[in-house]
Order: sequence, then C-alpha cells, then structure tokens
Amino acid sequence: MKLLLKAGRIINPVNNTDEIGDILIMDGKIAEIGPELSCEGAAVYQASGLVIAPGLIDMHVHLREPGLEAKEDIASGTRAAAAGGFTTIACMPNTKPVVDNSILVSGILQRAEDEGVVRVKVIGALSKGQEGKELAEVGDMVYAGAVAISDDGHYVDNAELLLNGLEYLARFDSPIISHAEDEALAGDGFMHEGAVSAMLGIKGRPAVAEDIAVARDILLAEYTGGSVHIAHVSSKGAVELIRQAKKRGVRVTAEVTPHHLALTDDVVATFDTATKVNPPLRSADHLEALLAGLKDGTIDAIACDHAPHAFEEKDREYRFAPSGFAGLETSLGVILTKLYHTGKFTLNEIIERMTAAPARILKLNSGKLEVGVPADLTIIDPDYEWIVDSKRFYTRGKHTPFDGMKLKGKAVATIVNGNLIMQNGEVHE
Ligand code: DOR
Repeated sequence: MKLLLKAGRIINPVNNTDEIGDILIMDGKIAEIGPELSCEGAAVYQASGLVIAPGLIDMHVHLREPGLEAKEDIASGTRAAAAGGFTTIACMPNTKPVVDNSILVSGILQRAEDEGVVRVKVIGALSKGQEGKELAEVGDMVYAGAVAISDDGHYVDNAELLLNGLEYLARFDSPIISHAEDEALAGDGFMHEGAVSAMLGIKGRPAVAEDIAVARDILLAEYTGGSVHIAHVSSKGAVELIRQAKKRGVRVTAEVTPHHLALTDDVVATFDTATKVNPPLRSADHLEALLAGLKDGTIDAIACDHAPHAFEEKDREYRFAPSGFAGLETSLGVILTKLYHTGKFTLNEIIERMTAAPARILKLNSGKLEVGVPADLTIIDPDYEWIVDSKRFYTRGKHTPFDGMKLKGKAVATIVNGNLIMQNGEVHE
C-alpha cells in the first residue's frame, strides 16, 4: 500500500521545521519526505492548505476496559482517538480489576491489537488494587510493555510507597505518573475552592491540596533520583514548584489538559455535571499560570484525561455525579481555538506538546517525521470551523463541557502505520 501526501504544510517539531512538501508512505513507513515527489501506483491525498504533523499522542486516556465497558471500551475509545486525530494513546489502570500485574498489561495490549484502531500503550498501577498499600508488580509490568506506572484517579497518600516505587522504577528508567491532590484536603470537595464555590455553596477542593502533593512528589523524586510525571497540573502553585524543580535538575515532567487551559470555575454555576472533574476547573489566575508554564516548557505536554462515564451516571445531581468527561474528540479543536487562534502559541509549539513531548516522556519511537519511522501522521485543517455535538462522538462518554461550542481547527485525517483510518471525521475499520 502506497500513499502520497501532496503539498501539505509539514510541521516537524523535533527539528523545528515548517515547510510545504510531500510525504511518501510505503509498507507502513515514511519512505520519503521532500518537494514534488511522485510514485507510480500510489494513492494521492491532496494536502494543500492543510498541516501534516506527526501522529498526535495522548498520554492520559481512560479506556475503561476491563470491567467498565458501560463507560467505554477499547473499540469505542480508540475510534474516538482516531476521530480526534490521535494515533497513539496511553491508557490508565483504574479499571475493574485494576491493571496491577503483567497478565493484565499483556491482555490489554492483545485486546488493543484485536479491537483497536490506533496504537495503545498501557500504564500499570503503582499499588495492588490501587489501594495505596502494597507495591504492585511494577517491574513485571514494565517487562510486559507498560510505558509508565500510576495510581491515577487516586492520590498516593503513602509517601513510603511512592518512595519505594520511585527507587525501584529508576532502574527501569520508567516514570511514575502522579495524580497529585492531597486527599485529606480535597477529598470531599466537588469544585475549585474560591469565590464561585462560596457563591454556589459547594464545598471546594483548594489549590493548596495540589501544591502540597506536587511539592512532596518533587521532593521524593529529588531524594530518590527517580522520575515523576505530574498528571493534569491545574494550580499556579504547582506550576511554580515544577519550574523551580526543573531548574534544580529534578527529574520531573508535567502535562496539562485542554479543559484546564480553556475553562474556569465560572462554568460550574450552570450545575452541569459535564463541568465536574478532578482536579477541578480553577479560576483565571490559575489558567494564566498554566498557559505561561506550557509556553516556557515547565509543563511539557498536553493530555486530555479522556474520562468517559455512562450517560446515566453523569445525569444526576452535581455532588453525586462522577468526575471526568470525554476529551479525545475535542482536544485538538479546543487547543487550536484557545491557544493558536488567539496568537498565544505557534502551530509548531502546539504540535510539539501533543507529539514529541509525550513521546519523550514515555520513551516512544514516535512523535517525529523522518524516513524509516512507522507512518503515523495527523492531517489538520487549522481553520476548519465546527460546532461540538457530543451526539456524534465515537466515545460512549457523551458528556463534555464543550458541547455546543464553536471551535476552529480539526484533524481531517488520521494515518496509523500507513493506513488512512479516519477521513473527515469518519473512522474506517
Ligand atoms: O475527573 C477525573 N476522572 N479525574 C481523574 O483523575 C480520574 C478520572 C476518572 O477515571 O474518571
């Protein structure tokens, strides 16, 4: 199968290039990149006016399999990824049972081969059953293919467990991904603690709960020499702590979500449960600090924390609804609308944070465009205007705070291993 992408704006953040050209794909790999390519028998994709980027990578996705298939499964979640322009996603272990051993890691990888349409990487749990007590078989899971270890969805309250995990995983050069929110401080709050929570009379989750957890994680990484990745950073204090730690040479990386970059806690006043998420949407001063952190490299990557729930679970009173919502099908559109079309970030910067950065953190051989690498690419129309309609989502999680919002910018084609698996929003088998 040969595919020739013609006259696209090729953006390759790894070597900071941005130029018009062609890409020839043969046998699942990038065969040639250059001007005016031709190839007998190749299918041609006209990409003039479009951006050709390395395939987008989302390192924080809940696929809910095994056990929680009413929310999502590998088939629906990977189709949502393809629709959103993602060629690789990493899935979190807070499933039923929890992914805390190598058999489950292998099982998900096999299911993804059978049922998935994009590449799936697995993140194994840090503690058995994610109970925060006993270290899971983390080394075994890394050998079975886990790209990182995390108790995501839960705060690791037990500092000794985290210390042991960091020390042990340093030998495998594998990061621990931390859901950093001190449970005692944040536990029974439903939104960001601030003026809006006071006005609404909803118990808040204070930003200091995140700051304290991030400070502890950084200190333990520094002490052990291990590597910690802070998931969904949302507080300005956390940004500053990570900035200072990076200056000292601590092995800390971080990600931020599109929703924390685009929305403030004002939207909770609607009592729409699609705005309920952990960590919570915060006030504008935090949002500004996140943008600054993403710009100066304190925050490395953008990841959407795709956290679908069944419709009926979310369709209830605010405090009883589960936290989280779907993100894969809106992530790129939200980022382009809020970061690119406002002039705050260049396309090159955005694509770097959605490709090369997560590839670097998870040590994946992707996120770049060069001859010989597997042909995972995303074709983007940065000016395409559309309105989010969750009824048309591939994900089972139909709740999103972006429903009905007008966005500018969208993936128009997703290519995995040389196969065009999504075109104009339609995912092909
Ligand atoms: O809102 C959230 N939902 N935050 C998380 O960290 C976990 C996620 C989930 O699994 O539903």
